[in-house]
Parts: sequence; structure tokens; C-alpha cells
Amino acid sequence: MEDLQFRSRIAKSSDHQRIARLCRRAVGPNDYVISRLDETIRKKHLFLVFSKKGDLIGMSNFTPVFDKSGWLGMARTDPDWRGRGIAQFVQRSIASYARKKGIKTLRFFVLSTNTSSLRAAKKGGFRVVAHGTHITCDLKKVKITSRDQIKIKLAPCLVNLNQILHSNYLSKMNGYLGYGYAFVRGNRANLLLIKSKEELFCYGKSSFILTTTEQDYEEFFILSGNVRDTLLKILKVSRELGAKAVGSFLPYDYHMRRVSRTLGFKEDSWGKHLILFEKRI
Ligand SMILES: CC(C)(COP(=O)(O)OP(=O)(O)OC[C@H]1O[C@@H](n2cnc3c(N)ncnc32)[C@H](O)[C@@H]1OP(=O)(O)O)[C@@H](O)C(=O)NCCC(=O)NCCS
Repeated sequence: MEDLQFRSRIAKSSDHQRIARLCRRAVGPNDYVISRLDETIRKKHLFLVFSKKGDLIGMSNFTPVFDKSGWLGMARTDPDWRGRGIAQFVQRSIASYARKKGIKTLRFFVLSTNTSSLRAAKKGGFRVVAHGTHITCDLKKVKITSRDQIKIKLAPCLVNLNQILHSNYLSKMNGYLGYGYAFVRGNRANLLLIKSKEELFCYGKSSFILTTTEQDYEEFFILSGNVRDTLLKILKVSRELGAKAVGSFLPYDYHMRRVSRTLGFKEDSWGKHLILFEKRI
């Protein structure tokens, strides 16, 4: 895509070094994107923005999600080019690419303290649709007490979609659910699709989604059930699946976050209070 000042294209493996340089300049040497660059470039959805002179000045990654939405992430603008609408330019480039693929909605989240990013989202026409937090737990460090061990019964049962659709978790997330590192609408059609992928688990009153996003790591989302019992069940199932760590989005809810802490979960620095944005394209 081109406008008078900038042009964009999808990243190639030969761009690796200059993308890493952009990340270091935009965020710092420990930017998590740098260690994931090979894999991200390989997926062919990393959009780069160049100045008229041909310098790499911005980027953002696009991931198609199963519900025909697109997920945006890894937005970076070179410090010398901030505040000049590069974030909106890359959002527009991605939207025009996504529309051709039949995608009608774009989403991403922003940490509540990231003012530049919040401004960039609003200027790009995105609206706030939900609030959440992200927690993780290192399974090696967590011990389940013997009392809890006895209490957690893992007898799989049939999923009750009506119960899930009216659950506290979905209503506190304004009808959205965490799926891997993205969010989708928590409606019947999406739940059935997740179920058909065998990623929907149900034990008694507890139900949750469990997806393997990385090796040894399970990402879950609670759909119904008491917070403590359900988290204990998730820890048990994840261990049985051989995971070394688990993570989840939770509604931004004081009680749920407190219970998760008592079980050894930690709120991630990048996910303490996340604001979910959405735009119809
Ligand atoms: C977030 C980010 C991608 C926005 O990029 P951008 O191309 O500057 O976006 P915009 O031009 O829309 O500017 C957005 C806001 O940045 C702020 N801003 C403007 N000039 C700035 C500057 N020189 N330095 C820092 N921030 C500036 C302003 O609040 C601006 O909003 P305003 O124009 O309404 O005042 C960029 O700030 C960045 O790379 N940040 C570090 C990485 C990051 O946080 N990524 C997002 C993770 S979700």
C-alpha cells in the first residue's frame, strides 16, 4: 500500500536485521518480538512501513483467527517517526489486505498504561469492547495441597453451551473470550468450532478452553464454574498434558485475580490491565 509519504509491504527473511533494529529502537534490546522474528516473518503477515527514502520506520503483525477476524500485534514505530500516523497507516494497509481475505473485524489489546498505543487505537477508529488481565503459572513451582488433590475430580462431562453462554466469565468480558493469544466473540458458533477442535473441556460445573500455543505451554480460558475449583482442574489437566507452564486471560475482576494469586498464578507485566479494541472493516 502507498500514500504520499509512506509505503508498506509484507516482511521477507532478508529484512530480519533491520526489523530487529527497529524493535531495539522502538522498545529496547529485550523486546520479545526479536526472539520471535524468524517464526513471525515465516508466517508472511508482518507488515512493514517504509519512508519515501526507503528507511524502515514502522510495522505491525496480522494473524487471521478462525472466526474470520484478524488479530493485530507487535506494533512498532521508530522513535524519530512517532506521532505522524504511521500506526494508522499500517492499520489501513492490514485492513485492506484482510478485507480481500473476507475478514470483517480486526482486534488487538493494549496495556492500560500505554498512552501512545491507546491514542493510536482510538485515532484508527477502534473502539474499546472489553477489559481483561493475563496470568501465568509455572507448573514446576506450584504445589497442589492433598486436600485439593482429593477435591479435584476429573470426570469429563458433556459441555452445556447454554450454561457457558450465560456465565459470569463471558458477561464480565462483555461477551468475548480469550482464545490462544487472541480474543473472539463468545457465541454459540465460535464455541462449537472450538469444541470441534477438541479444545473445550468440561468437568462438573467447570468448563474451559485449552489450546497449545507453544511447546510445553497451554493457554486456557475459563468459561464456567467456581474460580478456584476450575483453576485447580486446569492445573491438573495441563500437567497431565505435559505442559510446563499455563497462562490465561481473565476478566479484569478483583476477586478472580486474587483467587488466581493464591494458587500461584502471576499477573504478567504486559497484561496487568488489558484493553481490548475492535473495528469493523
Ligand atoms: C504505539 C506506537 C506503535 C504508536 O505509533 P505512532 O506511529 O507514533 O502512532 P500515532 O502517530 O497514532 O501516535 C499515537 C500517539 O503517540 C504519542 N506520540 C506522539 N508523538 C510522540 C513522540 N514523539 N514520542 C512518543 N509518543 C508520541 C501521542 O500520544 C500520539 O497521539 P496524538 O497524536 O493523539 O497526540 C508507538 O508509540 C510505539 O512504537 N511504541 C512502542 C511499542 C508499543 O508500545 N507498541 C504497542 C504494543 S500494543
